Amino acid sequence: MTRLCDLDDLPEGGARGFEVPGLACKVIVVRRGGRVHGWRDFCPHYKGGTPMAWKRDAYLNGAGDHIACHAHGAWFDIETGACVQGPCLGKRLIRVPLTVDEAGAVRLRQREERT
Ligand code: FES
Repeated sequence: MTRLCDLDDLPEGGARGFEVPGLACKVIVVRRGGRVHGWRDFCPHYKGGTPMAWKRDAYLNGAGDHIACHAHGAWFDIETGACVQGPCLGKRLIRVPLTVDEAGAVRLRQREERT
């Protein structure tokens, strides 16, 4: 299982993006409510998918309560990945299964090979 970071490196309410060997896009990890949520950095508004942050690790909206695509302003629910505002309503982000091991490392639960 690919290790992304230590849980302590990700503050509550924070988000970070990680390059993963074999994946064409980054993996976004959001820590919220004591849980971690993983999503591909791949906005469903654009047919081929596109990265969503306007600068490094800037994946959340101003209030920090949604994942935001800064290309055209879509907002996504952090827990479900559903678009709740913007041009891709009805679409969702692609979940990346994560686990936190007993040592506190955040890891991909399985290696994702699809793009
Ligand atoms: S590419 Fe993400 S909202 Fe348009």
